[in-house]
Amino acid sequence: MPKRTRNGKLLAWVEKVSNLCKPERVHWCDGSQEEYDRLCQGMVDSGTFIRLNPEKRPNSFLCRSDPGDVARVEDSTYICSTRKEDAGPTNNWVAPAEIRAKLDGLFDGCMRGRTMYVVPFSMGPLGSSISHLGVQISDSPYVAANMRIMTRMGQAVLDELGDSDFVPCLHSVGAPLDEGQEDVPWPCNAKHKYIVHFPETNEIISFGSGYGGNALLGKKCFALRIASAMGRKQGWLAEHMLILGVEDPKGEKTYVAAAFPSACGKTNFAMLVPPESFEGWKIHTIGDDIAWIKPRPDGTLRAINPEAGFFGVAPGTSLKSNPNALKTLYGNVIFTNVALTDDGDVWWEGLTDEAPAHLIDWQGKDWTPGCGRVAAHANSRFTAPASQCPSIDPAWEDPAGVPISAFIFGGRLSKTFPLVFQARDWTAGVFWAAVMGSEATAAAVGQAAIRRDPFAMLPFCGYNMADYWNHWLTVENRTRKKPGFFRVNWFRKDENGKFVWPGFGDNMRVLKWIVERVRGRAPEAVESSFGFSPRYEHLDWSGLDFPKEKFEKIMNIDRAEALAEARDQADWFDRFGSRLPQELEQERLGLIKALEAAPPVWKIS
Ligand code: GTP
Ligand code: SPV
Ligand code: MN
Repeated sequence: MPKRTRNGKLLAWVEKVSNLCKPERVHWCDGSQEEYDRLCQGMVDSGTFIRLNPEKRPNSFLCRSDPGDVARVEDSTYICSTRKEDAGPTNNWVAPAEIRAKLDGLFDGCMRGRTMYVVPFSMGPLGSSISHLGVQISDSPYVAANMRIMTRMGQAVLDELGDSDFVPCLHSVGAPLDEGQEDVPWPCNAKHKYIVHFPETNEIISFGSGYGGNALLGKKCFALRIASAMGRKQGWLAEHMLILGVEDPKGEKTYVAAAFPSACGKTNFAMLVPPESFEGWKIHTIGDDIAWIKPRPDGTLRAINPEAGFFGVAPGTSLKSNPNALKTLYGNVIFTNVALTDDGDVWWEGLTDEAPAHLIDWQGKDWTPGCGRVAAHANSRFTAPASQCPSIDPAWEDPAGVPISAFIFGGRLSKTFPLVFQARDWTAGVFWAAVMGSEATAAAVGQAAIRRDPFAMLPFCGYNMADYWNHWLTVENRTRKKPGFFRVNWFRKDENGKFVWPGFGDNMRVLKWIVERVRGRAPEAVESSFGFSPRYEHLDWSGLDFPKEKFEKIMNIDRAEALAEARDQADWFDRFGSRLPQELEQERLGLIKALEAAPPVWKIS
């Protein structure tokens, strides 16, 4: 085997890990198509992958995970800084020495009978000065194949790396094979799962799970948890945000970044198709999950998407709700935990209005409509190359990034919060993002239905959340062209528990107002105790019958509800003790004052 790298740290690390984990063989990934095809065929042969009908879905595969390994495991995710208070009250923490001893025990011989893949990858375009390199070691061919879609992966990364430093990402499914023991389609460890980060030494170690963010370590572990800690030290931001460009009929482009919690519509928003009546308006996709944002000498904040693919939620994705996603999925896709049709294609809830008469569900069982089970797991996902997205922006791989004019924050909230408002300034924007809330997702088991999810970063911040808010406040000083901060809420419900706002493509109406606002073209707005909101007349209603009364329903701020919210924020802020930036508590007190003053709340029109 030819030497693929002379990087001393990498060679020593691979040897050390190999000695500890005792795999049957070691494979250095070169990232070629041929290698990808071999990996996938190997998984077809072993029963891990099902090749889909090549006429319906060329070069695509279905994979079913173990039913106990279907989402990120937040309870088993750790930030292991030297001091507990540097991880903060929202992260699990164990002392580094203690967890290392534990992991050394678990990793001893954990790859017996398996291939150990060495996966060099770049987060961000290869060769860009804002990209960062990592190397993942994994005993999962599923991970190696997914990493080739989600990152720039292979020999080119080793060439780029040369002798320089990288983030070591160690991963094992934690299921060694004894002599003669038969493998299962989705090996994992039912008893021990650990997703461990060392933000002071930039290391990641993951054990026991093969799913999504637990296992594709370039994504949440590196590009969010470790990168957020790097960004704090170096003066930039790693965020759980989509990035999109809005092109107006004159061809002028405005880029925005939006943070919505997991499974709250980032992929949909990133690929939005404007209503037909919005002639000349186009949306261009840069990324759907993660943004790296850096202050530049020209005074702008510039963002790149560090990923190369989409690992998107399948259920609910349809030609109606997200045509661009569906077109992205025409081929070259890995589907995980969706249902299989009788003609060898895939299906999930929401793909079509009517379900097929027969399916094989995500657990490999026969399924018929009305059988009482879902066909696809709620957190079933597709892995697809971003380059296949019809709305992908020509600048999506521009190493310089795109200038951000607005930050948009949105949770899944059925009441209290209006469809949209703009925070008064940067500090107020950080406040509104810090108190953001959302209903729980598949990854947050056993928690209350609604939880605070500041900046949609609760599970992804690699250090103390209060320090993170402070970091956001300091970035203002390095930004001359300050973006506007907005809160949106597509999820407000009526008395019958139904969403009032049509959402999806119609979110363009709100986005247009946001763009006009930051371009200075919508100077008039209604001022409320929350910030600035549009009047009914300020939104473009062309092609939609949405009466003013309905609009008022989802814009209204109820004083009692808002006061209860502001008081509840006190409990939230209390958790951070003296590390809480005082500016944020001042914002909260100011809000209460405004709400208590008469007339307190936004009066419509
Ligand atoms: P992660 O990949 O988990 O970070 O999440 P994401 O934010 O990319 O989630 P995704 O876009 O896949 O969200 C999917 C869910 O949001 C589905 O349940 C959709 O139906 C719902 N959704 C997306 N946009 C809208 C909208 O405008 N209105 C409503 N009501 N639901 C929406
Ligand atoms: C999320 O949970 O926010 C995701 C999916 O984007 S995963 O990569 O599994 O974390
Ligand atoms: Mn995400």
